[in-house]
Amino acid sequence: MSSLFTSLTIRGITLKNRIVVSPMCMYSSTDGMANDWHLMHLGSRAVGGAGLIITEAAAVSPEGRITPDDLGIWKDEHVPGLQRITAFLTAQGAVPGIQLAHAGRKASTTSPWNGSHVVPATGGGWQTVAPSAVPFHAGQPTPTALTQAGIDQVVADFRAATLRAVAAGFQVLEVHAAHGYLLHAFLSPLSNTRTDAFGGSFENRIRLLRQVVETTRAAWPAQLPLFVRISATDWTEGGWTAEDSVALAIILQELGVDVIDCSTGGNVPTAAIPVGPGYQVRFAEKIKRETGLLTGAVGMITTATEAEAIVASGQADLVLLAREMLRDPNFPLHAAQELGVDVAWPNQYARAKPRP
Ligand SMILES: Cc1cc2nc3c(=O)[nH]c(=O)nc-3n(C[C@H](O)[C@H](O)[C@H](O)COP(=O)(O)O)c2cc1C
Repeated sequence: MSSLFTSLTIRGITLKNRIVVSPMCMYSSTDGMANDWHLMHLGSRAVGGAGLIITEAAAVSPEGRITPDDLGIWKDEHVPGLQRITAFLTAQGAVPGIQLAHAGRKASTTSPWNGSHVVPATGGGWQTVAPSAVPFHAGQPTPTALTQAGIDQVVADFRAATLRAVAAGFQVLEVHAAHGYLLHAFLSPLSNTRTDAFGGSFENRIRLLRQVVETTRAAWPAQLPLFVRISATDWTEGGWTAEDSVALAIILQELGVDVIDCSTGGNVPTAAIPVGPGYQVRFAEKIKRETGLLTGAVGMITTATEAEAIVASGQADLVLLAREMLRDPNFPLHAAQELGVDVAWPNQYARAKPRP
């Protein structure tokens, strides 16, 4: 019996296995539009047998994009392209998920293959926003601290994006509150030095995420699961900690969040991160153990045996893979074979299925 290939029902949705395609920016959109690249990229991973496929960070507003080439969900024109993708993923037996995001002070950069440089205003760049006027890197343009009206707009943007995600046919919604982007920047005392109701105490720093989760949960159908991705630690003295993450998770659970997707880091460029196989799994394990919430483990999980062990030992309920899914879109089919599980291959590919 494989735990990795056991189905999981969350609210009204059943995932056929515990393998999740982790959100991955493709930097391949024009004006936020999903196109053939996104259909092929996400579609081939559905053909490859993943239970849940979460799109890259989809920006809830144009200024919430990391790069001008990011996927977007800030206007109704984005819906048909996304719908084409959800229809295909669903037809392949995968559950389509979308990650909603605002890049905050890490916005307005070029794609990695163009050097991840700041985009100048003359080149289509924009003024970034953040909890406080503190740049991510010394030498980067200083973000504008959001006003109360700006904060209200962010919450409204997440709500409107959620309604568009429903219209586009997504069945899992993930709020991106990790990796130093806007919501994480509010959580961490290293990036949030505000003195109003959104800064200072733990309760104040989590206020924006709380409001975003309340508004998305209210706009997202009750039978559909809501995930939140967090950076469970800043890996930096004086920053956000694993204990903060547990306290936050308890509150998110009360607000109707179903899964905490446990990543780490991204808010401090100098953080010393002990990167290695499964290095973030212990945060998913801790939050699951101390809150009873479902968790997702992510980060340098690359083999069927590792993924199986994480679920079988109860460290996490879901295993998210990013780069390994780029190396091998058929990872789930290969993992099933390695673990001795008989899963269905797409009819079109059935003649290639290894026989026992
Ligand atoms: C090309 C690429 C793009 C990524 N884009 C996102 C993203 O849009 N949202 C996000 O939360 N994480 C993003 N990540 C992080 C991954 O989801 C994942 O957390 C990280 O790569 C660690 O998992 P891995 O070791 O399996 O690659 C990205 C990673 C890669 C490699």
